[in-house]
Amino acid sequence: MYNIKNILFIFFSLCFLLVLSCEDKNSNTNPIDEIDYSKAPKGFPPIPFPKDNQYSPTKEKLGRYLFFEKILSRDSTYSCANCHNPRYAFANNVPNPITINKFPLPRNVLSLVNVGYRKSLNWDGVEITLEEAIYHDFTSPLFFDNDTNEIFQRLSSHPFYPKMFEAAFGKGSKPYPYLAAKAIATFVRTLVSGTSSYDKFINGDSSALTEKQKLGMRLFFSERTRCSECHSGFLFTDLKYHNTGTTNHYFDFGRYYITGDYKDRSKLKTPSLRNVEITAPYIHDGTYQTLEKVIENYNRGGFPFFNKDTTIKPLNLTNYEKEALLEFLKSLTDWDFLNQPRFKTFGY
Ligand code: HEC
Ligand code: HEC
Repeated sequence: MYNIKNILFIFFSLCFLLVLSCEDKNSNTNPIDEIDYSKAPKGFPPIPFPKDNQYSPTKEKLGRYLFFEKILSRDSTYSCANCHNPRYAFANNVPNPITINKFPLPRNVLSLVNVGYRKSLNWDGVEITLEEAIYHDFTSPLFFDNDTNEIFQRLSSHPFYPKMFEAAFGKGSKPYPYLAAKAIATFVRTLVSGTSSYDKFINGDSSALTEKQKLGMRLFFSERTRCSECHSGFLFTDLKYHNTGTTNHYFDFGRYYITGDYKDRSKLKTPSLRNVEITAPYIHDGTYQTLEKVIENYNRGGFPFFNKDTTIKPLNLTNYEKEALLEFLKSLTDWDFLNQPRFKTFGY
C-alpha cells in the first residue's frame, strides 16, 4: 500500500533519475563541447596539430578536464591551471610561482595563448614538443612531482576518466599518462587568441580602436620605437632572443643555457604581447608590476648591458605618446577568447 516507505522509495527513484538525466546532459550534449575549437581565427594560419596527435572534440574535452585536474599532482594540490590560469590569459599573477615542493621558481610564467604555433618553448627556447614537455611535468619535482604508475591508478579508478579516454583514443584505451599528455597538448593547442579589438580593426572594423589606440599602433609599428621589429607578425613575436636591458643585473643566462654561446648571454625569447594587459607581472623574472614601468624602461633605453640589442635606445616619448602605446597594448586583449564558457566551470 501507500506507506511512507513506498512514497520515499518513489521519491528517491525520481531524484535519482533526474540526477542521471542531468549528468547525461553534461557528459553528452553540453553545447560547449559541440564547438569546433580547432578553427584558427581570421588571418591566422591553421593550428598545426601534429600527425600523431590530431585534433578531435573528445580529445580536446579530455585535455581540458585534465588541464584543470589536481589529482595528477603528487598530493592533489596542483593542476596546470594553478600557474596557467584562464583568468590571467593562462599565465598567473605572481612573479615567482611557488612550486609543489614550496620553493619559488626563478622565472615568470608564460601565457599559453597561441603556443601551439611555436616549435620551441620557454624563455630560452628549448626545442621540445608540447607532448614531451607535459609528460615531463607529471614527474618533475618542479611541477606535479608524481609517479606515472600512480597517475595511471588514480585515473583508472576515477568515475568518468576511463570513459573519456576511450571516447578520445578509441575503445579499449586505458588512461595512460602518455595519452593524458597528448590530450592536454591538444587542449593547449586550441588556446588560440586572434579576435581582439586590434584584430577586428585590421579585419576592417575601423571603429574597433579609439583614436588614442590608433596613435599607439602607429608608434608601435614606427621606425622611431621599433617595437614591431621584435614583437612582429600575428604572434607579436619574432620568435628570436634578445637582451633588452630590463634589469641592472641578469641572474638568468637565458638563451645561453641552450646554446652555450657567450653571445647569447641573458638573451630572452621575445614574448607575445597578446592579452598582455592581464598577464602582469612582466618580463622573464616578473620584476615589472605594470605595463607603464615596462614602457618607461624602453623609453629610457633600458639598463646598460654588454649584450643589449642595438635597437634599444632612448625614445623621448611624451607622456601622451606613452599613454597611447599603453592603450594600444590593451587593444590586444581578446575578451571573446578569454570569456569562452569552456574555461569557466573549473573554479579558477
Ligand atoms: C608551478 C607553476 C607551473 C605549473 C604547475 C605548470 N607550469 Fe607551465 N610554465 C611555468 C613557468 C614558470 C614557465 C616558463 C618556464 C621557463 O621559461 O623556463 C612555464 C612554461 C610553460 C610552457 C611554455 C610556454 C611558452 O610560451 O613557451 C608550456 C607549454 C607550459 N608551461 C604548459 C604547462 C602545462 C600543460 C602544465 C600542466 C601539465 C604546466 N605548464 C604546469 C609554470 C608552471
Ligand atoms: C630588440 C627586440 C625588442 C624590441 C625592439 C622591443 N621588445 Fe619588448 N620585449 C623583448 C624581449 C626580449 C622581452 C623580454 C625581456 C625580458 O624578459 O627581460 C620583451 C618584453 C616586453 C614586454 C613584457 C611582456 C611580458 O609578457 O612580460 C612588453 C609589454 C614589451 N616588450 C613591449 C614592447 C614595446 C611597447 C616596445 C617598443 C617600445 C618593445 N617591446 C620593443 C624584445 C623587444
